[in-house]
Amino acid sequence: MDQPESIANLKARMQAEIDRADAGHGAPENFPALPPLPPGRYTSQAFLDLEREHLWQKVWLYAGHVSQVPKPGDYVLLDIPEAAIFIIRGKDDKIRAFYNVCQHRGAPLVREPEGHASLLRCTYHQWTYNSEGKLVSVMYEDDFDADFDKSCLGLPEVKCEIWGGLIFVNEDPDAEPLQDWLGMIADEFQQFELDQLRPAAIRSYELDCNWKLTMDAFLEVYHVKGIHPETVGPSLNERGAVMGLLPNGHTRMTCPTNASPEEEKIRRGYATDENSLPPIPQGEIALNYHVSHNIFPNIITPVSEGARQLLMFWPLAKDRTRVDVVHYGLDWGEGERPAAWGPLLDFWEVVMQEDLQFLEWQQKAVVSPGFKGYRLSYMERRIYYAHESLDRIIGVENIPEELRAEHVLADWQEYPEHRAADPYIANRQAAE
Ligand code: FES
Ligand SMILES: [Fe+2]
Repeated sequence: MDQPESIANLKARMQAEIDRADAGHGAPENFPALPPLPPGRYTSQAFLDLEREHLWQKVWLYAGHVSQVPKPGDYVLLDIPEAAIFIIRGKDDKIRAFYNVCQHRGAPLVREPEGHASLLRCTYHQWTYNSEGKLVSVMYEDDFDADFDKSCLGLPEVKCEIWGGLIFVNEDPDAEPLQDWLGMIADEFQQFELDQLRPAAIRSYELDCNWKLTMDAFLEVYHVKGIHPETVGPSLNERGAVMGLLPNGHTRMTCPTNASPEEEKIRRGYATDENSLPPIPQGEIALNYHVSHNIFPNIITPVSEGARQLLMFWPLAKDRTRVDVVHYGLDWGEGERPAAWGPLLDFWEVVMQEDLQFLEWQQKAVVSPGFKGYRLSYMERRIYYAHESLDRIIGVENIPEELRAEHVLADWQEYPEHRAADPYIANRQAAE
């Protein structure tokens, strides 16, 4: 198993970035030019269809948290676009995911966002399933043909696994186990002890733009001086940011801070005693630096002293996106969430409005003849890597040539074993 990047090494790499910038140099000498991304990646229905077939139906996606289904029979209808899926805790206490599709004529079993049912009855013609998905009763069963067999007509199950209390689903029956998919992410997150957290609030935003435009906006810190001058901008030293390009498209950003944790809280206005959230486990690096992981394909998870956010980006159409922000904090036990969440959520609202302000303008730009390509710098390399990773999972050969992101970052992946296993590097070596 790979070992997570050591803290000492990360600190040294951040310092090296700062030293190079202070010496007046930009990107490292051997860093490749990042080709402009084709605007069609953000506008084309064909590209969206490829993503649907090869990405969304193949990868592990966040579905919720175990605290949302505490008792047998508790269910949650998922809000994953075009995926008719619900999760339910069975009588045997196992959490499963099923297609929300009655095996008679396809009516839904579950219509509320969440609820409780010991039996799931389709109200159309009253076929009834138990919480383990088995079809247990069919009205006027004798009217069906002689071969009719209830035992073969249970609800189709969707892969469902749990990581630190977070529930993930995967529509691909052949998908690798969640832990294998997370790989290095799972190793690095051990220090964060996710199972001590639970969601305190969810905020959603819908925008007229492609989902990748919204996600790109959260994958770099080049923008912080421009659009966050009074919120998160002052404390970030963006020239020192280190971007860890990890296997399976996951990434990690670590960025030096200009402020102590106390200064940071006071500046953000949620630091009075009664307004402090209890600290969450975050490890040494996150305590002293800005840390944000991208769990491929669509989760970005920044962490601060009292909270961890899961930002998720869901395509509703080629030019329509929903952004969900799930705010996680230390499990507070019984009763209402701590009052200190109020100021933090207010602060986040301001930051989100700052981050989202240009996206619908950018969507108009990418369809404009005035826009020649989406240009990215060294500081924005994590965006480019997300696009490369997307093409890998779709299969480069499936993508029209004019829509591809050329693969140029293979040598900049963080782990030697990862680089060694990279087919682009292997192919290049074979050609040399
Ligand atoms: S569609 Fe469900 S019982 Fe007919
Ligand atoms: Fe931002």
